[in-house]
Amino acid sequence: MKKPPATTPPPAGANQLSRRNFLKLGLGALGALAILETGGASLLFLQPRAAAGEFGGVVTAGASDSFPAGSVTEFPDGRFFLVRAPDGGFLAVYRRCTHLGCSVSWQPAENRFFCPCHASTFDLHGNVTNPPAPRALDTFPVTIEAGQVRVNTTRPDTRDNFTPDQLAYET
Ligand code: FES
Repeated sequence: MKKPPATTPPPAGANQLSRRNFLKLGLGALGALAILETGGASLLFLQPRAAAGEFGGVVTAGASDSFPAGSVTEFPDGRFFLVRAPDGGFLAVYRRCTHLGCSVSWQPAENRFFCPCHASTFDLHGNVTNPPAPRALDTFPVTIEAGQVRVNTTRPDTRDNFTPDQLAYET
């Protein structure tokens, strides 16, 4: 009977060396992954929460003299209506209904905001004219600098009713 050819045993430590290399490779890959994750998280943290001109940030609505007294202009990306009151003051009305949060629309023929969900209506200043909405529409702070109207949509201001001190004027 023929003897099988003798195999040469691996040199001493060869198996151990490859295992060590494998561990080194794995640890290196994990380290690189950790660096990538940390870098990615830092970039996300530095990113603004809302792009300029969109809901959640400051929206430049335009030149104050481009909004006639008594007008209502919708800014869909900012989720508000810019109201210019008959006396020239500005009010940014959040489009979210104070009942259950549906989006209201402006009905110029009726001179009112209307909620399609349960038929609440609101006047030009956002006051409730027909329930079930429990209070006036929320607003956003308005500033007028160098003739430009800006609306800060970071956080809405809640209110029960409209009062004239809520209007913003050019200083
Ligand atoms: S959500 Fe507007 S009336 Fe109900």
